Amino acid sequence: MQVQNTNDSSIVSKLSAANKGYFLDQWLKMFVDKEQKRSPIINRGYYIRFKAIEALFQSWFNEVPVSIYPKSQIISLGAGFDSSYFRLKKLNVFPPGCKYIEIDYRDVLKRKIEYIAKSEFSHLLNICNKQVERNSNILYLPCSLQHSTQCSVSWKQRSRLLSSDEYVMLGVDLQNCKELETCFCDLEIDFNIPTLFLSECALTYINLKSSNNLIQWVQAHFLNSAFVLYEQVHDDDGFSLVM
Ligand SMILES: C[S@@+](CC[C@H](N)C(=O)[O-])C[C@H]1O[C@@H](n2cnc3c(N)ncnc32)[C@H](O)[C@@H]1O
Repeated sequence: MQVQNTNDSSIVSKLSAANKGYFLDQWLKMFVDKEQKRSPIINRGYYIRFKAIEALFQSWFNEVPVSIYPKSQIISLGAGFDSSYFRLKKLNVFPPGCKYIEIDYRDVLKRKIEYIAKSEFSHLLNICNKQVERNSNILYLPCSLQHSTQCSVSWKQRSRLLSSDEYVMLGVDLQNCKELETCFCDLEIDFNIPTLFLSECALTYINLKSSNNLIQWVQAHFLNSAFVLYEQVHDDDGFSLVM
């Protein structure tokens, strides 16, 4: 539970920095109930984090132009309430043919879906906040999929919480590569197209053995991929000490 709470703290800090004008992300608001002001050093730390991730998206999009690679994937490991998909979409820079897959604990993503269902993006994703209980698990699906074949797969697939052509949420423990593989196969993820893996302050919460396994699994299965890890490394600088 403590690990999942790091997401709540992170999204509040991102919003604090955005509210101060460090960067533009008006879509963070939809995931925060109670806004809080953070100290200047935290705002600056989050500014650097935002800029680094923004630059990496840009360089990835330059690296895999749609004219050469009509299909690509971005897989966010430990995505939490990160708003990148919505930001890129609203800024019209999300490439056509790209699939954005978010993975986190099921409970975290269930909460995220509840927020999305109340936002302007419910329309984009066609989420009508419909809840279906099966084996005491609640599954949320875009309305448009509820009567399709894809939908019947989703009902059975416990981990797939939300699935549209472009945006997918998987509630999977990242320490379980076997389950991850099963989900990817069910989703018919293409292991050969260019795939960007992003871990923004997430793998640090997983023990060394499991994170090594995960990285090795990615390396072995996605031959045309890049892995971006953003973590705090200088644990004795001002930002880290405050954190
Ligand atoms: C500090 S938050 C960062 C969230 C997001 N990447 C961001 O930058 O806003 C860390 C996230 O990693 C997720 N996480 C940590 N360990 C995980 C695991 N074993 N499986 C799935 N998600 C995990 C947490 O639930 C949390 O949402």
